[in-house]
Amino acid sequence: MASKLYAWLDSRLKLKPVKDTLLDEPIPGGASWIYVFGSATLFLFALQAITGMFLAVYYAPTPDHAYDSVRYIETQVLFGAFVRGLHHWGASAMVVVIGLHMLQVFLYGAYKPPREAMWIVGVLLLLLTMGFAFTGYLLPWDQNAYWATQVGINMAGGVPFVGTFLVKVMRGGEMLGALTLSRFFAVHVLFLPATIAVLVALHMFILRRVGPAGPWSGGLDRRGKRPESSPAPPRPEGQPSPPSGERRARRSEPFYPRQVFMDAVVMLGVFAVVAVLALTVAFPLADKANPSDHSFIPVPEWYFLFYYQFLKYMEGPILGPIATWVIPGGFIALLLALPFLDPSKDRAPSSRRTVLGLGALFLVGVFALVGLSLHDLQEMKRTDPAVASGKALYDQFGCIGCHRVHAAGGSVGPDLSYVGDHRDRDWLIKHFRDPQSTSPGSIMPKFPLDERQLTDLTAYMLSLKKGA
Ligand code: HEC
Repeated sequence: MASKLYAWLDSRLKLKPVKDTLLDEPIPGGASWIYVFGSATLFLFALQAITGMFLAVYYAPTPDHAYDSVRYIETQVLFGAFVRGLHHWGASAMVVVIGLHMLQVFLYGAYKPPREAMWIVGVLLLLLTMGFAFTGYLLPWDQNAYWATQVGINMAGGVPFVGTFLVKVMRGGEMLGALTLSRFFAVHVLFLPATIAVLVALHMFILRRVGPAGPWSGGLDRRGKRPESSPAPPRPEGQPSPPSGERRARRSEPFYPRQVFMDAVVMLGVFAVVAVLALTVAFPLADKANPSDHSFIPVPEWYFLFYYQFLKYMEGPILGPIATWVIPGGFIALLLALPFLDPSKDRAPSSRRTVLGLGALFLVGVFALVGLSLHDLQEMKRTDPAVASGKALYDQFGCIGCHRVHAAGGSVGPDLSYVGDHRDRDWLIKHFRDPQSTSPGSIMPKFPLDERQLTDLTAYMLSLKKGA
């Protein structure tokens, strides 16, 4: 049945040559687990596209509704929290997998001639991915989203000559608001996907024209069995893959079946990891964006932490601009120019010590900054003045008589050790104003708290979280 259907389709659509082109691409040096990151990235891109489509069904891109629509997805929609989790952790996984992909290409010198164009398109794809991360971050319209985007837009404003223009384009109006949100939404779901689809296609088209690089030692490049400029010659229909030379038969193998298998295994593994994260690690919304609360300190996604930390050391009229645009701009230019700065055809690591050393230094720097940043964030939590004064109020009002925090205290009221995980700010404030309003029949007394005390006590409650 299936074979008949295939035969029919083949007779109409001439599928055989398509199948041959798709599956017979020779892999110099043979299939390897080290080549899986490109297809893993492609897989995650598809996952983001599909989960994004489902999120767009419920999401409403206006300041009045964005936050509530995301909350609705989280709490009401069937599998809503799971799909949002997949989209959130899928983005993180994408950064990891792209990082590994670039590392492999860098280590193998696969960006060198004749693959410069593929590398450049790859760098553009990286920039587009960052564009997705930046525009996507604003969409839930919570405090973090709002204030982190504010920081990002301010940074763009510091670029000389075009800064003011960039801010206008990004923000849409005088303030970060409705116009900004619909812009970011349109860019996130229409402009960027369209652009990235074209560039992904181009990236793969170039790959098929120049062929994969293969191992740094030997491979086909230097043997000239397969000239860089021309792909395998078209083969007549109905003939098996050509035995193109003894050496090539030994040194390379077709994409199908072993590489396809490895790629598939890794895609499945990546999906399993992302799904487990989506199911187990909650990604709660912060409070709804409040444009008048200038005291809020946003924390970026983990993959921007190194840069966030770097900015802390680079303040002032000279260092500031250096960190916000001179270094990032220079870095992107350096990445784009890499194949021309390091053009020798010898890809063996032993003859590329300087380039690899610089790459390693960069990585050490990034990881050191991430470590410092995590350390600072922990400190900040411990010494946040609102949290400290909230804790003092907690002691002063004798909450401990009825509540426990980490085993210390009474058991009249519920254990508050992790209250920050399941109550939000609005609920807590309402509860403290009048416990009866949220918990009818509560015996918890109404405490005479002023606004400042309410905020501080709430800040302390919200700091009581697992892992904090
Ligand atoms: C007389 C005992 C008593 C005292 C004193 C007391 N509480 Fe409570 N608290 C309760 C009881 C009982 C509940 C459960 C009913 C409710 O939600 O109001 C509760 C609930 C809570 C909750 C909600 C927990 C949840 O997630 O459902 C929080 C938060 C809380 N208390 C904080 C405090 C703080 C802060 C203080 C001190 C300012 C305090 N309580 C003082 C008895 C007390």
